[in-house]
Amino acid sequence: TGCFTYDPGFTATASCKSAITYIDGDQGVLLYRGYPIEQLAEKSSFLEVAYLLMNGELPNKEEFAGFEHEVTHHTMMHERLKNFFHGFQYDAHPMAMLAATVASLSAFYHDTLDLEDPEQRRLAAIRLLAKMPTLAAAAYRYSIGWPIRFPRNNLDYVNRFLHMMFEVPSEPLEMNPVVAKALDLLFILHADHEQNASTSTVRLVGSTGANPYASVAAGITALWGPAHGGANEAVLKMLAEIGTPDKVDAAVARAKDKNDSFRLMGFGHRVYKNFDPRAKIIREMTHKVLGELGVNDPLLEVAMKLEEAALKDEYFVQRRLYPNVDFYSGIIYKALKIPTEMFTVMFAIGRTAGWVAHWLEQQVDPENKIGRPRQIYTGSATRDYVAIDKR
Ligand code: CMC
Repeated sequence: TGCFTYDPGFTATASCKSAITYIDGDQGVLLYRGYPIEQLAEKSSFLEVAYLLMNGELPNKEEFAGFEHEVTHHTMMHERLKNFFHGFQYDAHPMAMLAATVASLSAFYHDTLDLEDPEQRRLAAIRLLAKMPTLAAAAYRYSIGWPIRFPRNNLDYVNRFLHMMFEVPSEPLEMNPVVAKALDLLFILHADHEQNASTSTVRLVGSTGANPYASVAAGITALWGPAHGGANEAVLKMLAEIGTPDKVDAAVARAKDKNDSFRLMGFGHRVYKNFDPRAKIIREMTHKVLGELGVNDPLLEVAMKLEEAALKDEYFVQRRLYPNVDFYSGIIYKALKIPTEMFTVMFAIGRTAGWVAHWLEQQVDPENKIGRPRQIYTGSATRDYVAIDKR
């Protein structure tokens, strides 16, 4: 293989140095800038975590107020950007609309395209963080035929998003603090996860010198796949298909069958081999949130039975397959009345904090060079061209 190694799926390749997130897969440890995810989940807020990921330190009061003000100031989308939505069929997947409209931001913000200027890089990151919920809510409302809403900048990050999603003129939207808190926590848990597929994609695109909007749009498309962020949508569809707890054993049997491509969605992780610390937090939160909202979802019973059945099954034990972050998040989103097609979009809103933090870090990394993997060629040896009438 010459002077390079063959590593499909990059299971043994570090592509960069990073000071943002630390994972110990064997111990189930996840740290953002050194802070344990459990502490951040309990005590912090998504916007504070976003600041931490981007800047390396928790903000003091003034720094946080300045950051919140800036993020709030940049929530609007250009009126012409709405035209992009109108180009889509009414039933377009919101992830398709999100990827396309985020990519289109590069055409609206020429002034942020001088990548040599740290202030413009920072502003681009703020714009992405600020506009993501606006674009996400717009994609949702367009998909159900409702007019797009202005961001209400007197509300905080999460309540503003909920308002853009669900507000109708005739009745004032009841802001439920349980819903807002749960959503904020989900955003924190999804905010970063070192070199996962979508973040690696952002970095690969970023390594070419492409602008941050294009880089993050590429990250969104990578997130969409069911092996990655698309799993939360796939989990809920799977649970609905299983339907009742008595059908769980049959689903587990299918997942073990090597002639069947069916996998238990929400199980397994490339890095976590004992448990996913985020799943532990979400599991607890699911029971709490459903209890507080008075939601009695039969799919929760299916999920619990499935978890129990898989955790004692040899196949899953041997392969160290545990519920991951996406296993329970869908049930919470459903209880919060977020439609299934929006689940991966919700993941994208949270992960935007990580994507921009990695992009910013990469821009000042003296060792950054264009990402350019090699290959093992398996095609034909040299041969001579044959004229079409001789083939
Ligand atoms: N159900 C059944 N079997 C599984 C599953 C599953 N969910 N996950 C892995 N396996 C088996 C797999 O068939 C293989 O078996 P064998 O050794 O006999 O061939 C073994 O476990 C190792 O799996 P792998 O595919 O080599 O592992 P990977 O590290 O390449 O993949 C994964 C990790 C997350 C893509 C995979 O576990 C999976 O497809 N899970 C379901 C989708 C999912 O929940 N994704 C969300 C991941 S967490 C959040 C995120 O990143 O977005």
